Amino acid sequence: MCGICGVVSNANVVNDLFFGIKQLEYRGYDSCGMAIINGKGLVAPKNIGSIDEVDRKEDFHQYRGNVGISHTRWATHGSVTQKNSHPHLSQNQQFAIVHNGIISNFRDLRQQLINEGYLFSSETDSEVFAHLMDRHYKLYNNIEEAIAASVKLVEGSYAICLLSVHDPKTLYCIKNESPLVLGIGEGTNYVASDFYAFVKFTRNAVILDDREIAVVSNDSYYVRNADTGEIKRKNIFTIDWSVETSQKGGYPHYMLKEIYEQPESLTKAFLTPDIEFTNFADILTKAKEKYFVGVGTTFYVAEYGKYFFADFLGEFCPAISSDEFNAIAKTTKDTAILCFSQSGETYDTLQAIKKVKDSGGKALSITNVMGSTMARMCDATILQKSGPEICVISTKAALSQMALLSFIGLEAAEKMAKISTSEKEKYVSELKALPELISKLLNERSGFIHSVAKKYADEFNWLFLGKGIYYAVAQESALKLKEVAYVHAEAMPCGFLKHGTIALIDEKFHSMVFVPHHDEECLFKHTMSSVEEIKARKGATVGFHFGTNVPEGLFNDQIVLPEETTKMQAPFIQLVAAQLFSYYVAYTLKRDIDKPRNLAKSVTVG
Ligand code: AGP
Repeated sequence: MCGICGVVSNANVVNDLFFGIKQLEYRGYDSCGMAIINGKGLVAPKNIGSIDEVDRKEDFHQYRGNVGISHTRWATHGSVTQKNSHPHLSQNQQFAIVHNGIISNFRDLRQQLINEGYLFSSETDSEVFAHLMDRHYKLYNNIEEAIAASVKLVEGSYAICLLSVHDPKTLYCIKNESPLVLGIGEGTNYVASDFYAFVKFTRNAVILDDREIAVVSNDSYYVRNADTGEIKRKNIFTIDWSVETSQKGGYPHYMLKEIYEQPESLTKAFLTPDIEFTNFADILTKAKEKYFVGVGTTFYVAEYGKYFFADFLGEFCPAISSDEFNAIAKTTKDTAILCFSQSGETYDTLQAIKKVKDSGGKALSITNVMGSTMARMCDATILQKSGPEICVISTKAALSQMALLSFIGLEAAEKMAKISTSEKEKYVSELKALPELISKLLNERSGFIHSVAKKYADEFNWLFLGKGIYYAVAQESALKLKEVAYVHAEAMPCGFLKHGTIALIDEKFHSMVFVPHHDEECLFKHTMSSVEEIKARKGATVGFHFGTNVPEGLFNDQIVLPEETTKMQAPFIQLVAAQLFSYYVAYTLKRDIDKPRNLAKSVTVG
């Protein structure tokens, strides 16, 4: 995924272009660049490295101009080199484009253009579009028509913003599947991958739909359907986030800030009207086949839901990772899926939704971004209101999704008479007590968790063990450690260990054990047996548990969690503790916590 920003103004645009890609840096950060039209034509400084590193090399702020585009890259096609960074220019330097997405048929198009005499300077798919613009402008002598002709040939996902010396006061953009929004200001208008880029300057936003061309000048804009040419009337909506809430606010890292924001973000999630839970529960319980769908962290939210529905409804609702959905999921008009996505732009999850919608089924989602592609594709969406999650590592968004999923599950369980209304109300009140309990955990245990993390920071191989719903916690916790600290952790159901993997166990091998709440007697007993099996082979263990019925000295080290935690609250509390453990391991290892290597906040490519 990459970050795109475009600015057209009656003033110099370079500062806003730079600010825009800084705000979007979490979307990709291996290279960046700008193109600006100034008195002398089109200039396009770009290089590899973080935005600040490239600015030191290229000195972006030396340039002046009233229209410009900027881009921060997460490499998909072509290695991280200056030539592969964006913007890409047409051969005659009359067009500059920035692109987020994948042009899936770029090889054929590249070869056609080479046969026509075009010379390529990069290995990227994106550069194809710059040459297509040149080719079609020569045919139509009109930029909009050149865009429409070019996208007719292009397959795949793209959000493209371009400028041209043929119209030096205008930005042009087109999107298909990858996100693109306009920011409508006073004397300055913006185009960006998401509104973090311009929310500091204007909260008035317009969301482009697939295959819409936007033509943007500093004081006006219009949108046209690329296929029919029809002018589209677009609603302007007001962004309800502010830059302040997307700043670090004194924390050393966004990740720690967002872990500590969880009491607040859960409280906001609880403001969701009950009718939304009831609606989701109705759709899911009426469906002939239903699936929970997500990828990465949100797949583990789906796993949590699988166990929650098994525990409370006695129903098997498979959790399927979005990237595998099309390969294994049977979908019909009686299918319903509930998708989880912080960004609402994850390509694989959007493809799963598309498959269900194409089959006539129903797609539901819980997402954190208002107006996201997912929110607009689904039959119904719950906006989780977690506030901006800037850190590439997801924490607060996942926890709120788990909580909202629990509310839906309780509604469904009551509807199916699996629990009584009073039982439901008891569980709901326990969920609503989570913000206070998490605050207690953060205030009272984070120092101790930090000390345990420091002690084990040099252990680079772990087994993370859990049983039942705690296996979902173990899986998400393992991903946290891998992605933020670059430490390998394999999650495994406790009972699975003895079927081979136990061969790994010796005094050098470490296992993290997510011990079920003692009210989960069966899960608790089996987990304890697994710990004994490890100890019998001199394996080192660290236990996350709630203190009750856990023999002294069972674990080499233990993180004892608030003993007043209930069964309903336990997975949440364990996950927050594991988030902190991973954070402090990464902190000890001096990792790039908010922007880990090789990652991007949302993977909008297949
Ligand atoms: C989260 O820590 C990861 N960075 C990643 O797995 C993420 O959860 C996944 O890419 C899905 O993103 P989404 O929630 O925006 O769809």
